[in-house]
Amino acid sequence: KRPKIVVIGSINMDLVTETPRVPALGETVLGSKFSTLPGGKGANQAVACARLGADVYMIGCVGEDSFGTMLIDNLKKEGVRVDGVEPVTQTATGIASIVVENGDNSIIVVPGANHALTPDKVRRVEAMIREADVVLLQLEIPLDTVVEAVRIARKADVPVIVNPAPAAELPQEVLKDITVLTPNEYELAILLGKKPGEHGDFRGLMASHHGKLVMTKGSDGAYYSDGNGNIRHQPGFQVEVVDTTGAGDTFNAALAVMIGQGCSIAEAVHYAVAASALSVTKFGAQGGMPSHEQVVTFLKQT
Ligand code: RIB
Ligand code: NA
Repeated sequence: KRPKIVVIGSINMDLVTETPRVPALGETVLGSKFSTLPGGKGANQAVACARLGADVYMIGCVGEDSFGTMLIDNLKKEGVRVDGVEPVTQTATGIASIVVENGDNSIIVVPGANHALTPDKVRRVEAMIREADVVLLQLEIPLDTVVEAVRIARKADVPVIVNPAPAAELPQEVLKDITVLTPNEYELAILLGKKPGEHGDFRGLMASHHGKLVMTKGSDGAYYSDGNGNIRHQPGFQVEVVDTTGAGDTFNAALAVMIGQGCSIAEAVHYAVAASALSVTKFGAQGGMPSHEQVVTFLKQT
């Protein structure tokens, strides 16, 4: 069955510069290529969910400018419902300035209109949230909006996945209402109020929020709890890396689609690691995000 997924999050235009070397502060280098590509963690996750076969409803804000129009058109083209995407005046559409060197990136996000996604706007789509199979959130929108969305979803018994990216600390009372949290190793430490590396091993941190955490670890795959107190490792798949931007978004989307279909966490993580591996083989956050059929074919070959 097609799961119904409500994604509440950011919508950005990615301004991507490829360069043989990232300049130091005060230095100038010659880049090799510039591209303008749809991005934003929220929109990326919405697009990935749609490609994987879900019915997707995007809740977010763009500015009344050309980037905003292009980004709404892109979501529509991907089959994402955009009734919940509001153009707002007085703020520019969010952008991400991305530098890619050798397949790895560094990113500056300027949220702009994404900050106009208030708790009040989320309350207005409460009915949509209550009917979802899964609600999917990230941290590129105001924190109180995330808190409100989690509260509404929880009250309606809708599973809620929070991708705590970019890294931020979350209050305990919110953590307890989240069904699955999906930090990377760095975000995991920040999320629980620790300094990265302070607690030595991620296993201790994962145990402190038993069964709620799926920790991604780049090409090394992901770690999750099996529900019996053991931490399991789903190894990564070897692929040729072109661009890692959006790999985490693909992972979260795939996890949401599988959980929305009632799959076990082990099945969901296996599928999500495969989907995100495929996503890094093409350029751009949304480039390379696979269809469900592509994930199935890939898993048969490995
Ligand atoms: O996760 C990747 C995304 O993060 C990019 O598309 C960029 O917009 C930033 O928000
Ligand atoms: Na990609």
